Amino acid sequence: MTHVLITGCKGQLGSEIQRISGKFPEMSFNFTDLEELDITLPGDIRSFLDNNPVKFLVNCAGYTAVDKAEDDEDMAYLLNADATESLATISAERGMQLIHISTDYIFNGEKNHPYIEDDPVNPQTVYGKSKLQGEQALQKAGTGIIVRTSWLYSSFGNNFVKTILRLSGEREQLNVVFDQTGCPTYAHDLAMAILEMIRIEIEQENSPRYDIYHYSNQGMCSWYEFATAIIDFAGTGCEILPVESKDYVTRAKRPRYSVMSKEKITGEYDLRIPHWKDSLKKYFDEITD
Ligand SMILES: NC(=O)c1ccc[n+]([C@@H]2O[C@H](COP(=O)([O-])OP(=O)(O)OC[C@H]3O[C@@H](n4cnc5c(N)ncnc54)[C@H](OP(=O)(O)O)[C@@H]3O)[C@@H](O)[C@H]2O)c1
Repeated sequence: MTHVLITGCKGQLGSEIQRISGKFPEMSFNFTDLEELDITLPGDIRSFLDNNPVKFLVNCAGYTAVDKAEDDEDMAYLLNADATESLATISAERGMQLIHISTDYIFNGEKNHPYIEDDPVNPQTVYGKSKLQGEQALQKAGTGIIVRTSWLYSSFGNNFVKTILRLSGEREQLNVVFDQTGCPTYAHDLAMAILEMIRIEIEQENSPRYDIYHYSNQGMCSWYEFATAIIDFAGTGCEILPVESKDYVTRAKRPRYSVMSKEKITGEYDLRIPHWKDSLKKYFDEITD
C-alpha cells in the first residue's frame, strides 16, 4: 500500500481527489486541510509526517484569490511561496515525491500558440509571482512534480461556472470578456490525472524527482464562449454579451492567452484528456444526478 497525503483537501481539487480516491485501492490517503495540517507551519508538517509517513504528497492548498492577492501580498507569498518551499525541503529530506499544483498565470499571456513547459515565465500579478516563487523553491530543492493548470472548476468551492449559474438566475443579460483565451479544467479530470500519474510513478518505481507538466482540458475558448456553453447546458434564458477586457476591469490583470500544450503529460503518462465541452457536459450530468 502506498501512502499519499493530500493537503488543502476541502478545496476544489482536493475535494475531487477525495471523491475519486476509492478508484485507487493500491493507495491509502490522508486528507488534510487547514485544521488538520497548516502548511505554513514547517514544524507541524514535520511532526505530522513523523506520525503519518507518506511516499507522495499532493499539495492542493494554496492562496487562490487572484484579485485579493494584489492587496494581500504577504499572505499570498506565505502560502504559495514560503509554505511550498517548506513542503519541497521536507519532501527532499524524507525522499517523498511532492506533486505541486501551479498555474498558467506564471506566463505573461502574450503568446499566440500553446505554452510549453520550457517557455519563459513572466508573471504579471501577485498571485502569479507568488506561484512562480513556489515553483522555483521546488526546482531549488531538486524535487517535486509541478502540474500547471488553468480555469479550474468543480461542484466544490467557488469558480466561474458557479458564478455564471448564480448570476444567470438573477439577471437577463451578462457581460463576459471575449478577448481572453484559455482552457477550462474540470477538477475531476485533473484529480484523475494526478492519481494516474502517481499510479505510474509507483509501477515504474521512480525515485522522487523534479519536473514540470501542463494539464487542462483539451481545446480552447474565450471566457465568453465558456459562459455561453454553461448557459446552453444549464438551459437558463440568460443572454451572454461579449465585451472587451478594457470594459471589464479587474484588480489583477488577466492573461490575454494562456492555452497550454498537454503533449508532454499525455506522452509521458499515456493520459487521455477530455475536450473541455465534453467535461462541462459531464459536470452538468453529475450535478443533475
Ligand atoms: N482555481 C483555479 O482556477 C486555479 C487555476 C490554476 C491553478 N490553480 C491551483 O490549483 C491548486 C488548487 O486550486 P483550488 O481551486 O482547488 O484551490 P481552493 O479551492 O482555493 O482550495 C485550497 C484549499 O487550501 C486550503 N488552505 C488555505 N490555507 C491553508 C493552509 N495554510 N494549510 C492548509 N490548507 C490551506 C483552503 O482552505 P480555505 O478555503 O479555508 O482557505 C482550501 O480548502 C492551487 O495551488 C491553485 O493555485 C487553481
